Amino acid sequence: MKAAIVAGCRTPFLRSGTGLADLSAIELGKVVLRDAVGRSGLKADQVDHVVFGTVVHDAKAPNIAREVGLAVLPKTIPAVTVSRACASANQAICDAAMLIELGQADVVVAGGAESLSRVPITVSDKLSKSLVEASTAKTLGRRVASFKRIRPRDLVPVAPAIAEPTTGETMGAAAERMAKENGIRREDQDAWALRSHRLAAAGTADGRLTGEIAPVYVPPDYGTVLGGDNGIRPDTSLDALAALPPVFDRRHGSVTAGTSSPLTDGASALVVVNGEKALAEGIPPLGWIRSWAWAAVDPAAQLLQGPAWAAPRALDRAGLSMKDIGLMEMHEAFAAQVLSNLQALSSRAFAQKELGRSEAVGHPEPERINVMGGSIALGHPFGATGGRITITMLHEMARRNVQFGLITVCAAGGMGFAMVVERR
Ligand SMILES: CC(C)(COP(=O)(O)OP(=O)(O)OC[C@H]1O[C@@H](n2cnc3c(N)ncnc32)[C@H](O)[C@@H]1OP(=O)(O)O)[C@@H](O)C(=O)NCCC(=O)NCCS
Repeated sequence: MKAAIVAGCRTPFLRSGTGLADLSAIELGKVVLRDAVGRSGLKADQVDHVVFGTVVHDAKAPNIAREVGLAVLPKTIPAVTVSRACASANQAICDAAMLIELGQADVVVAGGAESLSRVPITVSDKLSKSLVEASTAKTLGRRVASFKRIRPRDLVPVAPAIAEPTTGETMGAAAERMAKENGIRREDQDAWALRSHRLAAAGTADGRLTGEIAPVYVPPDYGTVLGGDNGIRPDTSLDALAALPPVFDRRHGSVTAGTSSPLTDGASALVVVNGEKALAEGIPPLGWIRSWAWAAVDPAAQLLQGPAWAAPRALDRAGLSMKDIGLMEMHEAFAAQVLSNLQALSSRAFAQKELGRSEAVGHPEPERINVMGGSIALGHPFGATGGRITITMLHEMARRNVQFGLITVCAAGGMGFAMVVERR
């Protein structure tokens, strides 16, 4: 493929309700769009398209990509917003690559933004219907009559739930179910969460993660500058994690706040280009997109197991096998989901029964997975995480002189994503 990535950045990832709480996803998107284009060495008017992902949409501005682009780039550059749950930024990157492969663009800024501090609170269906009726009523009497069926319980505000529309099950409950069905032990989940925090703390202390962050100047006076993540707990321990109560099945469960990704605000953006043209202009790609794949499982089955299906497909499309992969970045929705997917990837029985392959797909040694921690420590602004993972992967591949990297993300709806990136 000729699609390549030349630059990328993200905002600091902050737990929702903290430092970024007053900024909308659009405001966060502007920060990373401006910064990513600046890092690329390209000029704003060289951008052909903007693609941004988001999950919890702003009812007043559903195409956030356009709002972000209008604020930062020439107004003649088109922009589209995509939504594929926690893999929304990955979808944006794939759309950018497709525009480039089709010859419709040479430079696309792809990313994602999410404010989980500012989710739209809606009203009940009954109240919504009455309000619409009232707004079109021609007389005062009819307007008043629109509300006659409304009862006090219909006035309760409705917040978006992190639950599957088809099954009603929350992500956390699904992770809990996967832990039980796959025999993922509590101590192994705690150990994975601990490593996530330790590695993220190390990557922050030595500047590798910090270097990817575009600082945010906080309105209204822009006197406060936020440049670091606030979810990382350098001082957490196995004992502290073991003491936390299960959240999603309080009596028999094993998934805790410590082994879940926290609700987070943030944004990420990457500059995806026609790599051959960029090279000719003297702009060396950080990495090339070699392949990607999507997969989906029944949400009522193992909701967050999609990466175990998507990874072998992406590897096949790349003409590679797992032993070629030098680094792997997995989105950590929950430690139970990471460990379930790694278990499936290393299982011959899973490969034979589910994938129709004779041998296990495999995975790199844990020392080469999420080497600077993951979403458990860093946080998970749904629409932005895929961009963060891709940026971290590309920079670390350069430091370690790795040729092939594998990215995986699980997403609501039972979907899984995998992408192989390459340094040439
Ligand atoms: C799990 C979840 C419900 C926890 O929310 P919360 O209760 O607000 O979480 P908190 O950060 O307050 O943590 C709860 C407690 O655990 C403690 N804790 C959390 N992680 C810890 C760690 N690593 N070490 C020590 N203590 C920890 C906190 O300090 C807090 O203690 P306190 O009650 O004494 O203040 C929430 O993070 C969640 O819903 N996550 C999943 C989001 C999701 O589904 N995403 C989609 C996935 S794709």
